[in-house]
Amino acid sequence: MTKDVFILNSSDGSESIELPVESGAIGPDVIDISKLYEEKNVFTYDPGFVSTASCHSKITYIDGDEGILLYRGYPVEQLAKSSHFIEVAYLLLYGELPNKNLLNDFSSSITHHTMLNEGMLRFFNGFRYDAHPMAMLSAIVGSMSAYYHDTMDINSVHAREIFAHRIIAKLPTIAAAAYKHTVGQPFVYPRNDLGYCENLLHMFFSVPAENQEIDPVAVEALDLLFILHADHEQNCSTSTVRMAGSSGTNPYSAIAAGISALWGPAHGGANEAVLRMLEDIGSKKNIQKYIAKAKNKDDPFRLMGFGHRVYKNYDPRAKIIREMCHKVLNQKGRNNSPLLELAIELEEVALNDPYFIEKNLYPNVDFYSGIIYQALGIPTSMFTVMFAIGRTVGWVAHWREMIADPSGKISRPRQLYTGQPERDYMSLDNRA
Ligand code: CMC
Repeated sequence: MTKDVFILNSSDGSESIELPVESGAIGPDVIDISKLYEEKNVFTYDPGFVSTASCHSKITYIDGDEGILLYRGYPVEQLAKSSHFIEVAYLLLYGELPNKNLLNDFSSSITHHTMLNEGMLRFFNGFRYDAHPMAMLSAIVGSMSAYYHDTMDINSVHAREIFAHRIIAKLPTIAAAAYKHTVGQPFVYPRNDLGYCENLLHMFFSVPAENQEIDPVAVEALDLLFILHADHEQNCSTSTVRMAGSSGTNPYSAIAAGISALWGPAHGGANEAVLRMLEDIGSKKNIQKYIAKAKNKDDPFRLMGFGHRVYKNYDPRAKIIREMCHKVLNQKGRNNSPLLELAIELEEVALNDPYFIEKNLYPNVDFYSGIIYQALGIPTSMFTVMFAIGRTVGWVAHWREMIADPSGKISRPRQLYTGQPERDYMSLDNRA
């Protein structure tokens, strides 16, 4: 809704432009600068997009100052307490909570799309035994475009629907295949009698010779983590999916681009980095040393799992994960997990340190999640893959929203050129 105008004046007063101001359902107003270049021949400059809204979206809302996260209007705390991942996936994709029939149909469709083309399973043999699972994940998801040709037409609503169910269903299968490759075990096929998270644990930990008993607390913990990872509006990987998808590329390539963006330690790769950091710190007596490193501008070290572009308050997801951490460790009979105790002490010290207070640096979603994954027996290198499984739902929801938007354009930012002005080519003989 356009409600107002914003008047921008040049410093000498010779130029002025009225820019429309749009209000969303909640949150800050947005100044529409799309006509600025056409009318005034200037660009705006906003590295990292800290003040730039790139799209209209109805999917997720974050109030970073208050620590609020809503999926389609529902507080994430309520969904974490009362819903489950497949229902949340439906909500994010279709905008409303499903009734019983719709949920059964959706859940059954996901269950019946979990198998991976057999030819694709053989790809894993081409990777080194120590290949990072995120490298395998992005490669395999990208190569789905070479297998599932029936879903390449982005203008077909039906094809988009099949793609959405297929990618959400197959991510755990691909993740499990990547895991099995790293541990040198045979791939374990999905089972249609199991739920989404049960199936994932089955594919990870069963072997052809023996089915692994599935721990209900592990299922509950994974389901919760997937809910909390499912979407986070225009984060780096989701924006990457939208940007890649805006060129009209096939959806598997767009999701593979998102997976690559997620891998970085400033984004989803932080969960792996947190665990490695806690192991490096090793004991409570070293905490002050690492806090000092994090505060030292000349040291590239950052406290992993702390800080967020949007949250200037406690990340609501971190609070929920922290509670689940205790539940999982208690159930595993590990009331005294040294890693969890170290994390709690580190959090306490950081939250009382003036540097972290002034900069509003709080634990984020990645601070405690790795401790849960580790307690479930999932290796550190798989942590970001687990994040990707949950976030796939958000990527798909945003990709669908973008494709269906009739005002959509290819994403194409401009720049402030600071290189050489035009000059003439000089032959090799004449160069100094
Ligand atoms: N440790 C120490 N200092 C920090 C940290 C940290 N973890 N995070 C931010 N700062 C400082 C930073 O040095 C800067 O100081 P100054 O203003 O003096 O230059 C100030 O706080 C603002 O930081 P920024 O890098 O300008 O903020 P940003 O919004 O660009 O970055 C962030 C956000 C998440 C990349 C950053 O906080 C960070 O690198 N955190 C550690 C990595 C991490 O946990 N990432 C997971 C993010 S949440 C899940 C996800 O997105 O996947």
